[in-house]
Amino acid sequence: MNIIDNPQEVQKLCTQLRRDRKKIGLVPTMGALHEGHLALLKRAKETCDITVMSIFVNPKQFGKNEDLNRYPRPFEKDCQLAKEQGCDIVFAPIPEFMYPSNFMTHVAVDKLTSVLEGAQRPGHFTGVTTIVLKLFNIVMPDSAVFGQKDAQQVLVLKRMVMDLNLPVQLDIVPTQREKDGLAISSRNSYLTPSERAEVPLIYAGLIKARDAWKKGDRKSSTLIDCIRTKYNNASLFTPEYVSIVDTNSLLPLETISDTALIATACKTAESQTRLIDNIVLNGSL
Ligand code: PAF
Repeated sequence: MNIIDNPQEVQKLCTQLRRDRKKIGLVPTMGALHEGHLALLKRAKETCDITVMSIFVNPKQFGKNEDLNRYPRPFEKDCQLAKEQGCDIVFAPIPEFMYPSNFMTHVAVDKLTSVLEGAQRPGHFTGVTTIVLKLFNIVMPDSAVFGQKDAQQVLVLKRMVMDLNLPVQLDIVPTQREKDGLAISSRNSYLTPSERAEVPLIYAGLIKARDAWKKGDRKSSTLIDCIRTKYNNASLFTPEYVSIVDTNSLLPLETISDTALIATACKTAESQTRLIDNIVLNGSL
């Protein structure tokens, strides 16, 4: 497995691989790899000839008071895990290589980025789309693999790919979960033991809403009540939002007649950990 920090070097290597007619799969990550990332790598391995994983804690997608400095960076362990999964190239640039001091260009998707996570984290998605477009231009992948856990990120990136005619296929892998349902996330490591014991209520709420929908409930307010009732059993986290939205516009739905995204974010009191989760009704992202 090649570990490369220089964008020009990766671009040169990937250009050659494309000339050799290799199908390139990109798995963009911020490192601190867990089962969720490994599932993305596995998907890229299954569908492409060459798997490239980027590891870059992207400063532009963190707000001023967010966890950029405490974000875990177990680089050697990550490389070991990537190697075990058969990853071919790890691209791990330093921030100065991605954002030199004269960097001036950003890519922003409108509307979809001002709701849900975007409302809580202004500027976050511009950071995401800017870095992902840079990664696409450096690696030139045929396919890029993302997790459903970051559902809004997926929809924003899909919009960017469509709007800018990017020649890349986005491949979305279902959310990987702990046995008790908690969505696997690098941020779970911040949780205190008592918070960790309580946060499975988040997925339990989503499941309760899905069960109600399966039984025929189509009113969003009823399904949202199901989730909030579950959350009422929690004393160690509070919801930031619980929303049911259209998967194209991300606008709230009053009734569910087509594909709908139930998205939620919660924040724990003690470790101040933000956790997001979602479920899609009647289809997929
Ligand atoms: O999902 C993530 O880990 C990040 O948002 C991504 C896509 C790697 C961009 O920094």
